[in-house]
Amino acid sequence: MTHTSEPASGENRDAKGNHRKSMAEKREHGKDIAVRGKGMHRRKFLGGMAGAGIAAVVGAGTTFSLLSGAAKNKASAADSTLVIPDLLEGTTTDSTTTFTLEAKTGTAEVLSGVTSDTMGYNQSFLGPTMKWTNGDTVLLNITNSLGADTTVHFHGAHVPAKMDGGPQVAFSDGTTWSPTFTVKDPATTLWYHPHALGTTAKQAVHGLAGMIIVEDSTDATAALPSDYGVDDVPLIFQCLAVDSAGDIKYDLTGYLSSGLSYPLLLNGTNVDSTTLGFTATKTRTRFRALNASPSDIITIQRSDGGTLTQISTDQGYLTEATDVTTIRLVAGARAEFTMDLSADATLQAVVTTGWVRGGSGTYDVLAITASGTDTPDDLPSTLNTIDRYDTSDFTARTITLGQSGTTMLINGSAGTSMSSMAMISTTVGAKEVWTIKNSTQLEHSFHLHDVPYQLISINGETPTGVELGWYDTYEVVGGGSIEIAMEFTDFSDDTYMYMLHCHLLQHEDEGMMAALMVTDS
Ligand code: C2O
Ligand code: CU
Repeated sequence: MTHTSEPASGENRDAKGNHRKSMAEKREHGKDIAVRGKGMHRRKFLGGMAGAGIAAVVGAGTTFSLLSGAAKNKASAADSTLVIPDLLEGTTTDSTTTFTLEAKTGTAEVLSGVTSDTMGYNQSFLGPTMKWTNGDTVLLNITNSLGADTTVHFHGAHVPAKMDGGPQVAFSDGTTWSPTFTVKDPATTLWYHPHALGTTAKQAVHGLAGMIIVEDSTDATAALPSDYGVDDVPLIFQCLAVDSAGDIKYDLTGYLSSGLSYPLLLNGTNVDSTTLGFTATKTRTRFRALNASPSDIITIQRSDGGTLTQISTDQGYLTEATDVTTIRLVAGARAEFTMDLSADATLQAVVTTGWVRGGSGTYDVLAITASGTDTPDDLPSTLNTIDRYDTSDFTARTITLGQSGTTMLINGSAGTSMSSMAMISTTVGAKEVWTIKNSTQLEHSFHLHDVPYQLISINGETPTGVELGWYDTYEVVGGGSIEIAMEFTDFSDDTYMYMLHCHLLQHEDEGMMAALMVTDS
């Protein structure tokens, strides 16, 4: 992995606070990015998107204002404020919390100065954040207004197969799907996105993605920041491929067309030549990072090389807070980290291509102004208890990620239809260790639905540090392999299946997906 080192925020800017064009030129494959007229268009875009942000922020009880924002603060290099996705209010009756979502089409400025056709949940691009509480029952009424079939998958959630939003539960335009389940996940960061056969990449890259925060009321980590948009901040990264007309690409034909740019978005705002601002009113801030890119890898780091305190992986807290200098997220992965901010800091995203021609480069994405005066308590010394699996009596399987030309395979089968995909059959109570073998030279991101997994080995090496956490999405490099272990604790069904697949969405649509049937033993 090559790290291009970028000067600290503010050192590479013109009088308007924009990065100089050299940043765009550094991108290996990206075409030059239109800078002319950008300010005006960007403001227009924020006008459309920011309403939700204001509502969420004001609702969270702060005087933080998008209009005063970081631009006035000379310590910050930001020229507009981080948009916080709206928090979706649920209504609770008879101990069931009901959320209403509508998948719909719209337009947004993905590439500065250009209007793209997009999709979103309840808005024109991306979706609101949902908060679920462990032990509660949730009901979602999701209406499809896309003009095409869709599903909504709760990525990382431990729910019955019928409620999981896989391809078997696709629902058509004009209809409403209403899954309901008890939240069994621990405190963690999940997300939701479409999962219909062959259209996942198209729908997700156009904006159908949102965050889910699971809270646990009995959680020993209650001392961690949890005031949404104030000291608990979502960071949704997307590196897309867009032509100069703003058409967002999602398949091989599109990716091979000429004149593409690879814009990086943070919470829906283009950060190619803009650094967003966030004012930390509390000394300690928690960030929840999600890589919602179709394929590229996002590595988060500080511009000053300092540490981030990672507290969780995909599937919940680490045993203890762990200082790291980088957090590498493959497509679909999440991580949470905290920063104790006694001075301003800038977060960078390093984009590493996940496929033949994706994005690349280092971006100053978020300039954080430290304005907290409080002294936070020490972080809890133990965040979680993770019993490492002893896999000696686990059932072993090999899952081979393969390819035949442009058709992607799992165990030799292309999962482009329910009848053609490979099927793994197991039973409730089974404990298994899987070797995920990448027989291609391409990068893959291995995602398993239903249950979390532990990493047993990574390319033959024993995991250490944050690799000892719980995952649902992990990198499998070209020619490499990982061993993962999991336990199928509950939820049997002999009709509805879970999926396991590459989270490079183009690969998933091209067949790198298999089914998992969990039946009663
Ligand atoms: Cu995030 Cu099967 O998907
Ligand atoms: Cu892949």
